[in-house]
Amino acid sequence: LDLHTFVRGLPKAELHLHIEGSLEPELMFELARRNGVELPYSSVDELRRAYAFDSLQSFLDLYYAGAGVLITERDFYDMTMAYMSRARQDGVVHAEIMFDPQTHTARGVAMETVFAGIARALRETRATTGITSYLILSFLRHLSEEDAIATLEAALPLREQYNDLWTGIGLDSAEHGNPPGKFARVFARCRELGFRLVAHAGEEGPADYVRDALDLLQVERIDHGVRSEEDAVLLQRLIDQQVPLTVCPLSNLKLQVIQSMPQHNLARLLRLGVMATVNSDDPAYFGGYVADNYIVCAEHLALTRHELFELAQNSITASFLPPEQKHKHM
Ligand code: ADE
Ligand code: ZN
Repeated sequence: LDLHTFVRGLPKAELHLHIEGSLEPELMFELARRNGVELPYSSVDELRRAYAFDSLQSFLDLYYAGAGVLITERDFYDMTMAYMSRARQDGVVHAEIMFDPQTHTARGVAMETVFAGIARALRETRATTGITSYLILSFLRHLSEEDAIATLEAALPLREQYNDLWTGIGLDSAEHGNPPGKFARVFARCRELGFRLVAHAGEEGPADYVRDALDLLQVERIDHGVRSEEDAVLLQRLIDQQVPLTVCPLSNLKLQVIQSMPQHNLARLLRLGVMATVNSDDPAYFGGYVADNYIVCAEHLALTRHELFELAQNSITASFLPPEQKHKHM
């Protein structure tokens, strides 16, 4: 079996995917035209050429601007359907999808519009393909905790209606200067409300932020977490407690968290016994979907087929699926 076929054939969960980061340039242009939104690029090629990043912030600037073409329920539906059909080709059996409502409500898009479009695509995909999914509403950490609380309050009236999908709360955007502790109160509230909790930490920020995400936010999974390796005590804790890391290798390369793929610590973390998983983060911006991320690691980190299988199994284990559904995929 060639590597691509083997990787695509592994039943896997994608646990770190920003739906706004799955918006491909072609669809971005189509939505811009449909909605009469002006893009500061004359073509898909010119836009793609702008995807040369030197940091998380340089990416976030384009990512938030790109999301400006999303206006109607149908826009969110089309974007989500495109991701789900691509994920299906990669052997994804379950996806836990982050979305950033503040990016949209700040532009006057209703919370209901965002939920409705994404949910319609996820429910339709579940009905036609059996691929399951959950939604992780993520707060933007460059904004205030008050803004996060207001966002939670605006979304809570929709909870019953989207009960089958909206199970989690996350924390993303610019990590430097926005430590987990800034969101301790809103995360405590979300925990009381029964949401599953995750946070980005240790992507650009220090290992301390990973520890704070565990201690101050009580998250169950760390998004990225690759800088945990810099703190031996923390690293041992991640291993002992089997805290999942949702690692995104191509993202780390494109945002210059690492300077080349052979430098990535995924294989080391996995071999030390960390519950590491492989994910795509923002595939439209970083040059690959989830299977591409497995493949690039196999090629540059000399992962064995058994290790690739182990990574796929970890993604099922680390998901928020109920135990009986996990077992179906393992
Ligand atoms: N939002 C989308 N992708 C992100 C990433 N890799 N880190 C932080 N915030 C994000
Ligand atoms: Zn991310």
